[in-house]
Amino acid sequence: MSDSILVIKDVWKTYEIGDERIEALQAINLDIEKGSFISIIGHSGSGKTTLLSVIGGLTEPTQGSVSLDGADVWKLNDAGLSALRNEKLGFIFQFSSLIPTLRAIDNVALPYIFQKRNNTDIYGRAEKILSILGLSKKLNSFPSELSGGQQRRVAIARAFINRPSIILADEPTGDLDAQSESEVMEFFSEINEKEKTTFLLVTHNMELAGMTDRIYRMKDGILTNGG
Ligand SMILES: Nc1ncnc2c1ncn2[C@@H]1O[C@H](COP(=O)(O)OP(=O)(O)OP(=O)(O)O)[C@@H](O)[C@H]1O
Ligand SMILES: [Mg+2]
Repeated sequence: MSDSILVIKDVWKTYEIGDERIEALQAINLDIEKGSFISIIGHSGSGKTTLLSVIGGLTEPTQGSVSLDGADVWKLNDAGLSALRNEKLGFIFQFSSLIPTLRAIDNVALPYIFQKRNNTDIYGRAEKILSILGLSKKLNSFPSELSGGQQRRVAIARAFINRPSIILADEPTGDLDAQSESEVMEFFSEINEKEKTTFLLVTHNMELAGMTDRIYRMKDGILTNGG
């Protein structure tokens, strides 16, 4: 496929703890076209988070290759990998990942500040995304002053600040109520349509998965096509 943004070839991840071997990922192959909206479902412990972190340059695979927008992720040096993660990727983690000493708006602007790009109006953009996610009144709140669902939405906003080409979202709406959840999904679809951003969404929610272009299922480290 010429317009691939993500190509995974024969990726394995084995964790060894004492005598125990856990095959968290087994012979994963995947080819994702630019602009697709993909979901991954599967039981707890099936390997979903491991897969996202191998794609996102956080967990090195035992074997295999990951190519992201033409770059061979696991052949890059540290600087190359950081640059790739900062410029191309938006990562929404399964568990809270905000910096407690920074206000909401600074948490959102942070990846951009790391990039040391000439600042256009980064705080304007951060404010806009936070407002779309219903947090216009919480820009200056610290994470400890926000509810779990509000913190989650700040973490979602942060993933979009650098206009990434691909978003890796690990149960991004897990702790949101139904209304916030559908607002977030609406925001995702809009960005997907307008900016051709690719989405890889891990979810337990079949209704959400049903809204995506294609569903993959993870079971015991093996990925299959089709819900
Ligand atoms: N750092 C680690 N060290 C050892 N084993 C790990 C590590 N991370 C994950 N595992 C194991 O790898 C397997 C896959 O874990 P993973 O976190 O990818 O599952 P998951 O599908 O994201 O589950 P959940 O839906 O509960 O988030 C599990 O058996 C888990 O215990
Ligand atoms: Mg997980």
